[in-house]
Amino acid sequence: MVKRLFRRKFLGHIVEELDIEEHRLHRSLNAFDLTILGIGAIIGVGIFVLTGAASAKYAGPGVILSFVISGAACAFAALCYAELASSIPVAGSAYNYAYATMGEMIAWIIGWDLILEYIVASIAVAIGWSGYFVNILKAIGIQLPVWCSNAPGTVPGAIINLPAILVVLFLTAILVIGIKESARFTGAMVFVKVLTVLVFIAVGISHVSPANWHPFMPFGLKGVIAGAAIVFFAYIGFDALSTAAEETENPQRNMPIGILLSLGICTVLYIIVAAVLTGMVSYKDLNTPAPVAHALSLVGFQWGSALVSAGAVAGITSVLLVMLMGQPRIFFSMSRDGLIPSWICKVHPRFRTPYISQILTGIVVAGFAGFIDIGTAAELCNIGTLFAFTIVCGGVVVLRRTHPELRRSFRCPMVPMIPLLGVFTCAWLMLSLPKITWYRFVAWLFAGLIVYFYYGIRHSRLAKQKKIQ
Ligand code: ALA
Repeated sequence: MVKRLFRRKFLGHIVEELDIEEHRLHRSLNAFDLTILGIGAIIGVGIFVLTGAASAKYAGPGVILSFVISGAACAFAALCYAELASSIPVAGSAYNYAYATMGEMIAWIIGWDLILEYIVASIAVAIGWSGYFVNILKAIGIQLPVWCSNAPGTVPGAIINLPAILVVLFLTAILVIGIKESARFTGAMVFVKVLTVLVFIAVGISHVSPANWHPFMPFGLKGVIAGAAIVFFAYIGFDALSTAAEETENPQRNMPIGILLSLGICTVLYIIVAAVLTGMVSYKDLNTPAPVAHALSLVGFQWGSALVSAGAVAGITSVLLVMLMGQPRIFFSMSRDGLIPSWICKVHPRFRTPYISQILTGIVVAGFAGFIDIGTAAELCNIGTLFAFTIVCGGVVVLRRTHPELRRSFRCPMVPMIPLLGVFTCAWLMLSLPKITWYRFVAWLFAGLIVYFYYGIRHSRLAKQKKIQ
């Protein structure tokens, strides 16, 4: 029994699977596409929405440090992701890495955890999108009724968040049609949102008054760390890139470039935005649903505020697209291994996309996005992602020992120090999240184990083929 739980995938077989025609996805992404896709996944609700509450409630201007701390945790994890994505270039990211290094049960837990990450991130992002979209409609004179533009319990009279539901269904349709089209669609939106961020910095910097940075840490170091655990959401997304490894040309070279470049660009932008934002206005004024736009209007730039809102909608749309795209690729890997039913694995004969799981994901995300609030979703997403990062960092150390001969076109520097720093910082951030988030997270993992022991363990393809190492 115990041996079954820890059976590991033989790395050679993982790579072999890629040659089976019916399982293959279309390889069309290069390093540039990946970097764009990465930025598309990263800059979104985190910087445009959550920075405000993190600064006002926890970190004050010290939110700049919060971005540095969570950025460091992500940098350690990104180096580990890059090594694994360059040596095991298959869809499914951390799930597949765990299957090869730590055995089937841990892989299942990670896969189940990633399902949580992508679904809940998509939900949070769709809700954030809806908020900005409603704002823009208001600016051009269209006032959506409260009952159909907010989740129940968030404002009086609210019944359903219809814009959040509709945007998810629309993007799901685009993703079913094909990834190359999606990458182009993302490219245009990434351009707009980077421009938006640059415009904000250029306009805001002349209104920085250093007095706003005092006191720098009104809630102490503890507040800065609590802020880091929230703004961590702003970095989520670079890991989604590794789920597209099977659709990448020369993944050994292009994956590390895409992951590290997109994370690096976003980190620099975030730190500058956080510094400008908290320098422009008092951190106490930032607890609003659209803090970046709000700060501009406080210093008298109404046009800048409207422009940033429009850019934010475009930016958040591209995040939603990549998050929705990542989820079915996890499903795809898990069903290919027999751990979830195989009909989910079906690739569309013409579009070559995992259309069944894409549609299922769209329906679930749309269903929840219409009825829950953004904070709950973001925190749950963070804990799940930090957990996956911890396992990925650990996986690098394990794989270096168990498979020293593996061809690694990108090697994480200073192993085991960097991966261990990754494990430590991610665990530290997890511990700074509220208890209720932990309860929800543990409940989800527990439900996952029930599914595994009921279905996965008996249908595992690895077990059937006796490909046990
Ligand atoms: N990093 C993404 C965002 O901030 C998930 O929206």
